[in-house]
Amino acid sequence: MHTFSSTRYEKMSYRRCGRSGLLLPEISLGAWQALGSYRDDVAARDIFYTAFDNGITHFDFANNYGTPAGASEELFGHILKDMPRDDLVISSKAGYRMNDGPYGEWGSRKYIISSCNASLKRMGVEYVDVFYSHRFDPDTPLEETLGALHALVQQGKALYIGLSSYPEPYLTQACAFMRENGLAPITLYQPIYNLFNRNIEEDQLPAAHAAGAGVVTFSPLAQGLLTDRYKNGIPSDSRAAQQGNLGSWMRGMITEEALAKVAQFREIAESRGQSISQMALAWQLRCSEITSVICGASSQKQLLENIGSINNTEFTEEELSQIDAICNM
Ligand SMILES: NC(=O)c1ccc[n+]([C@@H]2O[C@H](COP(=O)([O-])OP(=O)(O)OC[C@H]3O[C@@H](n4cnc5c(N)ncnc54)[C@H](OP(=O)(O)O)[C@@H]3O)[C@@H](O)[C@H]2O)c1
Repeated sequence: MHTFSSTRYEKMSYRRCGRSGLLLPEISLGAWQALGSYRDDVAARDIFYTAFDNGITHFDFANNYGTPAGASEELFGHILKDMPRDDLVISSKAGYRMNDGPYGEWGSRKYIISSCNASLKRMGVEYVDVFYSHRFDPDTPLEETLGALHALVQQGKALYIGLSSYPEPYLTQACAFMRENGLAPITLYQPIYNLFNRNIEEDQLPAAHAAGAGVVTFSPLAQGLLTDRYKNGIPSDSRAAQQGNLGSWMRGMITEEALAKVAQFREIAESRGQSISQMALAWQLRCSEITSVICGASSQKQLLENIGSINNTEFTEEELSQIDAICNM
């Protein structure tokens, strides 16, 4: 077993996840894309270790993360052998296409249960701490998807359950259904949220808060756009330089207009003594409704920079107005 820093929990702050007993680190680490994919396994191990050494206890996965799909969980299964399982919160999800055929995506009981079993096997664990429905399925009864999540808790395969990217009113309906039927509560809600995408402020953020679910946001750095990564073009080892759909999607986000906004955000960040990535994360952490931001990182340096965001999460009214003005441009 690797020896981790004995002061790791002093380096991180933890927040209660909604109205549950679960505490999560303000910064969580997600494995989508970089880990189990375009960063090699040695680099990935270093990043996971650095995270835990700095008090990051929450690691976010889904069945389809990595290249090929499932590689992120499989890689983490190896790394986990040298980490203390009871001190970690491991999340996984099912909802997007994982297997061919009629049982390989969406929200049926058939897919959710078999996918969780497969994730447990890939990671070599008996349970995950959190299992999510990865997206709302308009064609499966909501009660069926929710019943499958509850069954995973009853079977001891998940300790907590969550929903990701559920539009209103389904998020509120789902939380109410669990509560009214005495089922496992929806403890976490995982939406996209960043300075370029503030849609959840209108309804999902207040709805999750009202329902007692903690909010853990994904892509808080807009996949790297809200960093210095693309200040001087597209580096060859970056997400935007990757082959395939995900790389081209990312390249599509790097417009002149977006980069102009990033430059303005950077000016505010510098006046606060932060990097832009630190300000983008801190801007979320200033809200008590946000439990944790799940960032990605493809190097230890990036991760350490992001962790530094927790040291300054106070914003003046003037800074917030300036940020709003840039967002609304
Ligand atoms: N529920 C869902 O549907 C869903 C969807 C997407 C993501 N997620 C979760 O959210 C996690 C985070 O998503 P994300 O990877 O899009 O998050 P992100 O934090 O917005 O972007 C991460 C990428 O930004 C770059 N980066 C991070 N810190 C940096 C720094 N300090 N300086 C320069 N570049 C930096 C890196 O790009 P390079 O790799 O180019 O270095 C990194 O891979 C995922 O891993 C996953 O767990 C969930």
